[in-house]
Amino acid sequence: MLTIRYETSGDYEGIRQINRKAFSRENEAELVDRLRNHNAAAVSLVAEMNGELVGHALFSTVTFQPECPALNAVTLAPLAVIPAYQRQGIGSQLMETGIKECRKKGYGMIFLVGHADYYPRFGFSSAGNKGFKCEYEALDEAWMVLEVNEVPQYPKKRNRAL
Ligand SMILES: CC(C)(COP(=O)(O)OP(=O)(O)OC[C@H]1O[C@@H](n2cnc3c(N)ncnc32)[C@H](O)[C@@H]1OP(=O)(O)O)[C@@H](O)C(=O)NCCC(=O)NCCS
Repeated sequence: MLTIRYETSGDYEGIRQINRKAFSRENEAELVDRLRNHNAAAVSLVAEMNGELVGHALFSTVTFQPECPALNAVTLAPLAVIPAYQRQGIGSQLMETGIKECRKKGYGMIFLVGHADYYPRFGFSSAGNKGFKCEYEALDEAWMVLEVNEVPQYPKKRNRAL
């Protein structure tokens, strides 16, 4: 049985393993630790299948330049499912629960840099078209946003997020 739930401190090593296996490198596992240590982890969810951790999604808080606290946004990074469990809907369940939890917690927007073919199914669309610029070099089509709660009118000039 698949369960999606918030991470606990007992999951930290399992989450590192998921990210190492999904990305075949250390960067994302280290990123998760760094964000958690900086108290930026807003919603961190694990997917557990019969007692085994098989997926993870982290939504962390972001800042804007110029500052725009009213936007109250998070970014998704990383989303990972271990290879043996991919294409079974686990990533989708992590996304759907993550979006719901971000909405419940009152966040306004979720940004991400990710596969352009994957995230539109959850309602994400171009962040560039809404006037947001990514601090990191990212393909325009990969830079996406989803409004999860009503947000105040945001400046139409090119803001930076992340
Ligand atoms: C992306 C990822 C989280 C999806 O998890 P998942 O559990 O396999 O996803 P689901 O089963 O819910 O959905 C499967 C769909 O995702 C699509 N998908 C998976 N990886 C994809 C990719 N790199 N680009 C585009 N689509 C992708 C599949 O084609 C499939 O589409 P379909 O339903 O139309 O056949 C998982 O493949 C993964 O961990 N990949 C390695 C790490 C990674 O790239 N993370 C995302 C960073 S943006």
